[in-house]
Amino acid sequence: MSSENSAPNQAASTATTLIHRPRRLRRTATLRRMVQETTLTVDDLIYPMFVMEGEEQKMEITSMPGCYRYTMDLLLREIAQVYQLGIGAVALFPVIPESKKDDTGSESYNPEGLVQRTVRAIKQAVPDILVITDVALDPFTTHGHDGIVDPKGMILNDPTVEVLVKMAVSQAAAGADMVAPSDMMDGRVGAIRKALDAFGYIDVRILAYSAKYASAYYGPFRDALDSAPKFGDKKTYQMDAANAREAIKEVTLDIAEGADIVMVKPALSYLDIICQVKNYTQLPVAAYNVSGEYAMIKAAAQNGWIDEKKVILETLTSMKRAGADLILTYFAKEVALMLM
Ligand code: PBG
Repeated sequence: MSSENSAPNQAASTATTLIHRPRRLRRTATLRRMVQETTLTVDDLIYPMFVMEGEEQKMEITSMPGCYRYTMDLLLREIAQVYQLGIGAVALFPVIPESKKDDTGSESYNPEGLVQRTVRAIKQAVPDILVITDVALDPFTTHGHDGIVDPKGMILNDPTVEVLVKMAVSQAAAGADMVAPSDMMDGRVGAIRKALDAFGYIDVRILAYSAKYASAYYGPFRDALDSAPKFGDKKTYQMDAANAREAIKEVTLDIAEGADIVMVKPALSYLDIICQVKNYTQLPVAAYNVSGEYAMIKAAAQNGWIDEKKVILETLTSMKRAGADLILTYFAKEVALMLM
């Protein structure tokens, strides 16, 4: 290794008269660190976690190696550990037994439901970790859609919002720090904000899935929750992957309705949307590095085709560079360990 201070080290070619040599700033690791524009830290990470009924069990999700459905007792232990690693927030997703599902997702607002019990237990065991609860009907409906379905198969907007409101209020009552509507019904952020305020939960934040696309990248998540739609698809409520201006429209509405943080989902194929949303709003912007993005990296890594750690860090850094302030990622724990 030659000292970078030893000059002159190369003579300029007489054929070139370069004023700017961008490579100067890339010469050493120290310099590169100094001019680095984006830094991924553990503070950026939110860890999505799956909870199921039962005791002392964890089940690996086949299409998401390294991700588990935990029973509540094991989940609490895991959460204590991830909080120790510096992760500040978990996003909770429940696996609801078939016997508790119905057409309207009524289990979603049961005060003794799995989510509500789990939130209370987390806030007791690890009070300082932020608990974010998902507001959407799909884990709770027999048909797997995020809303109430009419006999013709249409997803009904306003009746669904009424259920989402009850769900959000029951999560707040259980102690959720933040509710995250991921359903894409129109007007749900405003209705939830109004109801939370009316019940005295003025400080419960809303993390809005504002630009949520109808994406094939959700496949492994639906395996995890056993929540794939039994008919049709989600294209009448989730956005078309081809649209960007519409994302700004959705973000505008959610901000007007009272969102505290807006989210773009998925992340990797939507970096342009993250960037546009970031330039548009003063609110923090979250990105969801979804299950299919996780699965692709894991699969390639298991085959020895990519350097897993480097690809994970590069991928999450690209999301941050695009403008994400927060990243929901199944890699959160691994990354927290890497960044230590
Ligand atoms: C459901 C929901 C989905 C995800 C988060 N909340 C799936 C869907 O909309 O069908 C996907 C998350 C992931 O793929 O990691 N409202």
